[in-house]
Amino acid sequence: MQTKLLNLKNQALALISQADSKKELERLRIQYLGRKGQINQILKEIPQLDKDQKAQLGRLTNDVKTAITQTLKIKLKHLSQALPKKEFFDPTLPSQPASVGQLHPITQIINQVEDIFSRFGFTVASGPEIEWDKINFQKLLLGPDHPSRDTQETYYFDDQQLLRVHTSSVQIRYMQKNQPPIRIIVPGRVYRRDTIDATHLPSFYQIEGLMVDDKTTLTDLLGILEHTAKSLFGQDRKVRFYGHHFPYTEPSLEVEIQNDKGQWLEILGCGMVHPQVLINCKIDPKKYQGWAFGMGADRLAMLKFGITDIRNLYSGDLRFLNYAGS
Ligand code: DAH
Repeated sequence: MQTKLLNLKNQALALISQADSKKELERLRIQYLGRKGQINQILKEIPQLDKDQKAQLGRLTNDVKTAITQTLKIKLKHLSQALPKKEFFDPTLPSQPASVGQLHPITQIINQVEDIFSRFGFTVASGPEIEWDKINFQKLLLGPDHPSRDTQETYYFDDQQLLRVHTSSVQIRYMQKNQPPIRIIVPGRVYRRDTIDATHLPSFYQIEGLMVDDKTTLTDLLGILEHTAKSLFGQDRKVRFYGHHFPYTEPSLEVEIQNDKGQWLEILGCGMVHPQVLINCKIDPKKYQGWAFGMGADRLAMLKFGITDIRNLYSGDLRFLNYAGS
């Protein structure tokens, strides 16, 4: 009888561990532990046994019942936690490729220009987009009635504060706080009232450069600008300089670069910092001289990536942006 019970136990545990549904488990529970279950069938024979045998069998029956109950419980827990068959998850399968973005074309240009100038010891500076008239214009020798204010129609908050029309304002801010030697590059957003079309927007990006020390000359400026253009667009790219006028530089120049169709496009203004600008910032023009430039980052991005409509740069359309910067 003991053997019968042990066999029954082994059989029950094997079947329980193979069961694959709760329903099957319940069926097995009734089959073994139920009132008319197999264990109770065996126990019916107990009255024929003597006292010692009864006690021994009683203990064994309890052990078998406990073992079956425990196994049923554990199996039930497993079945409740297991994923339904349909959602079988294989952790060794390769994952779906992540969609990788890229930097905006203008950011790429700014990063490249920063890289080029950092090799010459320039650091990156910045200034506010909301600026004082005094810093944006007056300290740069653009008095209230200066005609060139007309070409840069300005968004004013009141008669003293405005949205900066160029990053040249940061030249003033930096020189007011730092004495030469100065070597800075200033990328940033600027604002001008403009009618929107394929080449104009009321806001765009510039990259300003400023170097002031006791020896630097116009030749350094021309050299570094040519180097920059060729680093960005390739050694064969043609660059040309011609005379211009900015109130805050003397002499002043503009730089043009050729696109793939051979047309010349203006990309920046530059010149030797006017001595009066240095004086305005408490830098002694007898001891120091400097040069500065301001380039259009949007223009450079358009040239570099063959973009014909500036509005695309600000559309936020990922199809365009993914295509344009690649
Ligand atoms: N601020 C000028 C503009 O926005 C560009 C410029 C010209 C910047 C000459 C300079 C400079 O620093 O020296 O058109």
